[in-house]
Amino acid sequence: MQIHGAHGYLVAQFLSPLANRRDDDWGGDPKRRMRFVLEVVRRIRARVSPGFAVGIKLNSADFQRGGFTEDESRGVVAALAQEGLDLIEVSGGSYESPAMMGTAAASTRAREAYFLEYARTVRGLVGDIPLAVTGGFRSRTAMEDAIGDGECDVVGIGRPTATITDAASAILTGRADTLTTHQSRSGMRGVLGRVVDIKALDGILDLGWHTDQLHRISAGLEPDPHRGRLATTVALLRRNGRTPLRPKRGG
Ligand SMILES: Cc1cc2nc3c(=O)[nH]c(=O)nc-3n(C[C@H](O)[C@H](O)[C@H](O)COP(=O)(O)O)c2cc1C
Repeated sequence: MQIHGAHGYLVAQFLSPLANRRDDDWGGDPKRRMRFVLEVVRRIRARVSPGFAVGIKLNSADFQRGGFTEDESRGVVAALAQEGLDLIEVSGGSYESPAMMGTAAASTRAREAYFLEYARTVRGLVGDIPLAVTGGFRSRTAMEDAIGDGECDVVGIGRPTATITDAASAILTGRADTLTTHQSRSGMRGVLGRVVDIKALDGILDLGWHTDQLHRISAGLEPDPHRGRLATTVALLRRNGRTPLRPKRGG
């Protein structure tokens, strides 16, 4: 099982100084903010058999001003490495700032893998625990380099699998050198950026487009790579209401 400690969900909220405004034993400084995740790991470990695999997905940062930083994240990785985990997976961002969808600043997008630079910096902290990196990987070369150079042990693939359901085997067997992606972007620019967070919107639309593909597959249909923005937006509104399209905070 994998604990979701990333993308703005509960564990990530405890870690983030933006979301966690507590001033008791569960918040206030990095050590107290990480108490929740450590307790979650310990309680699960105590209940499962020793051979049961327990992993975690953790944000390298939440990519928001005043939020959870890479330095803090490294502190959490160092602490988690003492807790008998079987996998630590690195990701980043949240629905408000979807870095995991590739919307983060260009400097974090070294090569094609968004969080590989960060992964390098925690390599020495995780000891023998396998390190996984997810986000942006598309070519076999980049995957092989990341593993071959020892930057990570596991490569995660998300969006390509929504249209190429055997993406992992296509790469592993050499049938494909690169996985095609279909990024759905809002196409909004300029003045609209003052009222709407375009990067966040683009990330949400991209997520919605791929979610639609998963719905198609589960209904026995083929993926539809030509699915347009309008259909994606309508499906998104049906599923999530207007929340994803709300105006910028304070904007
Ligand atoms: C449709 C869809 C659903 C996702 N659901 C989850 C999820 O439930 N848990 C999770 O940790 N990440 C989820 N993600 C994020 C992916 O795990 C991954 O971090 C992200 O897609 C970046 O990897 P990629 O560039 O290979 O797509 C989802 C992504 C998409 C597109």
